[in-house]
Amino acid sequence: MPRRTPHPILGWSAFPKAIFPAYPSPTGVRVLDVEQHRDWYLSQVQAPVGGAVLDLGCGKGADLLALAARIDDPRASFVGIDASPDHVREAQVATTDSRVSFGHSKVGSTLDFDDGVFDVLMTQEVLECFPDLDAFVPELARVLRPEGQIVASHYDWDTQAFTGSDRDRTRRVLRAWAEWEQSWMDHTDPWMGRRLWGYLQGSGLFEGEVRVRVMTNTEFSEPWHGYRMAHWFRGLVKRGMVSEADYEGFMSDLEEASAAGRYFWSVNRYVYVGRRVAADGQRGRP
Ligand SMILES: C[S@@+](CC[C@H](N)C(=O)[O-])C[C@H]1O[C@@H](n2cnc3c(N)ncnc32)[C@H](O)[C@@H]1O
Repeated sequence: MPRRTPHPILGWSAFPKAIFPAYPSPTGVRVLDVEQHRDWYLSQVQAPVGGAVLDLGCGKGADLLALAARIDDPRASFVGIDASPDHVREAQVATTDSRVSFGHSKVGSTLDFDDGVFDVLMTQEVLECFPDLDAFVPELARVLRPEGQIVASHYDWDTQAFTGSDRDRTRRVLRAWAEWEQSWMDHTDPWMGRRLWGYLQGSGLFEGEVRVRVMTNTEFSEPWHGYRMAHWFRGLVKRGMVSEADYEGFMSDLEEASAAGRYFWSVNRYVYVGRRVAADGQRGRP
């Protein structure tokens, strides 16, 4: 079977749905483009034989379980920690793989691990929750062995784009979403994607590069992420962050664009892929 690669400009949405395989998900949640992004994110991870991987803010464990399924190494170990006890419980029951463990931990300014115990630290959509990331980044470096790998991914919500006839209204809705500090967050930053480079490379503790993937949708329907996002925005109305009229107008716009074959959604996701600077000060490779 020929290898599929995303269209260089349009991403995965340029391909008809029929050619996608059924994407299995360890948690049962199937949002195709999110799962395609996960594949890409996990493909950045380079775990050595017998390596130990930490997933900081692992949620329900989908990333860690998908990674473990790819790595056929009996000596490897995979540790996920998350502040949500419910998420951790779901993650724990989703696997029987003895190499994988999940723990409940609300991380403050420190990580409860010894120095240099991990070969890989991965984290996706979590770093914005730390109010003082400059102070926390040295903790990420501390738990990694010298030249251990960091793979840190984040949306940049201010790059989210929907088609719409009323630009001001569309901006109001998207800005409200971007700035929404949800109940489980101690902090939010809709620019975290573009700031990964500054926080991680700028710390002098890592040497790496930023890779960017643009998620795009051209269909306003399940199972695409833009469609789900638009429906989640209703939560903004409930919280008084967007008026009912704005939300209804925004949704009508999207329905009309869809009926006319003009619907488009995109958002940028940034991944910093780097290595902890070696103890002797030498720089590693991404
Ligand atoms: C948007 S979810 C991302 C989950 C997962 N990494 C993914 O990409 O599917 C953010 C997760 O970070 C966790 N989280 C937020 N702040 C945290 C903290 N201080 N310590 C540990 N986990 C935290 C939340 O409980 C939530 O599961």
